[in-house]
Parts: sequence; structure tokens; C-alpha cells
Amino acid sequence: MIIKVLGIGSSPRVGGNSDILLDKALAGALAEDAQMEKIILNELNIKPCQECGGCNETGACVVADDMLIVYDKLIQSQGIIIASPIFFSGISAQLKTMIDRIQCHWIAKYRLGQKIARQPKLRQGVFISVRGQRGLEIFKAAVKPVRAFMATEGFKYMAELLCDGLDYKGAVNKQPQVLSQAHELGQKLVHQIREG
Ligand SMILES: Cc1cc2nc3c(=O)[nH]c(=O)nc-3n(C[C@H](O)[C@H](O)[C@H](O)COP(=O)(O)O)c2cc1C
Repeated sequence: MIIKVLGIGSSPRVGGNSDILLDKALAGALAEDAQMEKIILNELNIKPCQECGGCNETGACVVADDMLIVYDKLIQSQGIIIASPIFFSGISAQLKTMIDRIQCHWIAKYRLGQKIARQPKLRQGVFISVRGQRGLEIFKAAVKPVRAFMATEGFKYMAELLCDGLDYKGAVNKQPQVLSQAHELGQKLVHQIREG
């Protein structure tokens, strides 16, 4: 069975710390023969949810932008790796914007009782987050919307890698054990999907 893993990078800083860890995790998934794809939200044109109610009857978003690409890739993936820096004590605006656009799937699932079409079973997700200052407590606020997103999309929140004290671009490259942890996370994700 081919396992598709989708990496979602949400930092505006390409080659930054969360991006490096996302790449390591995706390399881990690839090492386990998964098919992987990466999207960088900052490169997409995704408008924030307009709370227009356009999805209330159908469960489908009426805003036609690059989120259509994301919906499609989400439906096709059995594994997901989301990476975000901590910005002002929470996830990046890019990630929050994408998550809010999942409201149509929330409506579809919880209000209309629909099943999201073609959604493969046994979906698993992991979350990677980095922050500049020390302390792990602050990640709680970031984990909450990511968990809510995964629950709505039908991904089990399998594991997380939360790294503090990483501020300047590429700082994580000086921490080989963290790079290995990210690689292992990608591998574990694929194992977990295979084991069901
Ligand atoms: C707009 C902005 C807000 C930030 N807010 C926080 C914060 O609240 N707490 C923190 O520990 N670090 C904060 N940082 C630092 C980043 O989390 C840190 O530099 C991180 O390594 C960035 O990850 P990236 O390289 O993947 O973008 C902030 C950085 C920026 C640019």
C-alpha cells in the first residue's frame, strides 16, 4: 500500500527552524517508502474564512482560492506533518488561516453528518513547533487548534515535537539530536499508519 504523507510548512521563513525540521520528518517518511509532498502555506493565496455561511447547506467552501489545492491534498493523505513557529504565543497566521478554512469540513462532519469524500482511513498526524525563548508551557496554545484541525479532518494526533530556545534562522542545525528526533518522527508516522 502506498502511503501518502503531506507536509505543511507554515513559517514565512523558508529554510528556518520549523522548515528544517519538517524536511527532516518528511525525509524520515520517505525513508520508510512513503510518498511525500510538501506545501508551504506562505506561497499560497489563502483568504481567511469570511464566516459567510456559504458552506452551511453543502459543507463546501464557496471561496475559490488556493485552499482548493489544500482541500484536495488533505483528502488524499494518510499522514500529515504540520510545522509552525510560535508567533506571539500561538501558531503562525498562515497556519491559523488554513485551519479556519476547514470550517466547511467541520460543518460537513458535525452539522450535516457527511463523510468527507475519498478520505482514506487510518490517518495519523504529527505536529512540529519551535520557539525562540525557553519554556514548553507556551506550546499548549499552539497545540489546541492543531488538534482541533486534525480531529475535524480525521487525523489522529499521533505525536509532537516541540522545541524551545531556537531563535535565529537555522539554529536547529546545531542540535543534531533534535534533527534525529524529527527524522524518527516521520518514520514513526509511517509505521503507525501501516500498523493501523
Ligand atoms: C512575529 C514573531 C513573533 C514571535 N513570537 C514569539 C513568541 O511569542 N515566543 C517565542 O518564544 N518566540 C517567538 N518568536 C521567535 C520564533 O518563534 C523563532 O524565531 C522561531 O525559531 C521561528 O521559527 P521559523 O524559523 O520556523 O520561522 C517570534 C518571531 C516572530 C518573527
